[in-house]
Amino acid sequence: MPIKIAPSILSADFGAFAEATRELSEAGADYVHIDVMDGHFVPNITFGPQLVRALRPVTPTPFDTHLMIERPEQYVAEFARAGSNLVTVHPEATYHLQRVLQQIKDAGARAGVALNPATPLTAIEWVLGDLDRVLVMTVNPGFGGQAFLPEMLAKIADLAQMRAAHGLRFEIGVDGGVNPDTAPLVARAGADVLIAGSAVFHHPDGFDTAIAEIRRAAEQVRDQDRKATREPA
Ligand code: DX5
Ligand code: ZN
Repeated sequence: MPIKIAPSILSADFGAFAEATRELSEAGADYVHIDVMDGHFVPNITFGPQLVRALRPVTPTPFDTHLMIERPEQYVAEFARAGSNLVTVHPEATYHLQRVLQQIKDAGARAGVALNPATPLTAIEWVLGDLDRVLVMTVNPGFGGQAFLPEMLAKIADLAQMRAAHGLRFEIGVDGGVNPDTAPLVARAGADVLIAGSAVFHHPDGFDTAIAEIRRAAEQVRDQDRKATREPA
């Protein structure tokens, strides 16, 4: 699977989401990552489906909506209707994960699950076939700009193994502290989709350069690893 970059508008100027979204698409973003926080599941509040609906006409780039909210079952259909192509929920925030995943699909979106750092992969073992994406959180969700948790690299690698063992094709996303230094580590561990907030929005040379640098850093190690496995011992 090719590496995909999904910049998070959590790091945008909150007065200028439309401009940021348009610029990200022009700069080659594969998804626009939209971080929804409710002040309960995480200690921060951001925005709701109205923002997704308002941004939808701005770009055809797929919207990847990350719901950090309690009881996501109450809102997934609305986020899908508002224009989210992929809706990701936390298993820690619902009693009935499998049902929520079906609700997302019934509403016409792709379904994802995000795992907090302390949540084991066994939380999704019995719904693997229902998933279009698994997002490994490499920070505790709630804020942009936090430090990457290197312990999560083994979790990404285990997930990649689990995917191969089951012959499945869901995307492996990584969210939190992704930048050109950590991108090669997560790509080597098996990540396909790299979410990045601060590394894109705070880059001095703009979105194009930021996205290209993260993509290049990740693709380089993938190429190296591919060559290494092809070379005879
Ligand atoms: C964290 C969010 C992330 C965040 C990533 O709660 O889910 O998507 O925006 O931001 P950085 O890349 O700054 O860690
Ligand atoms: Zn996120």
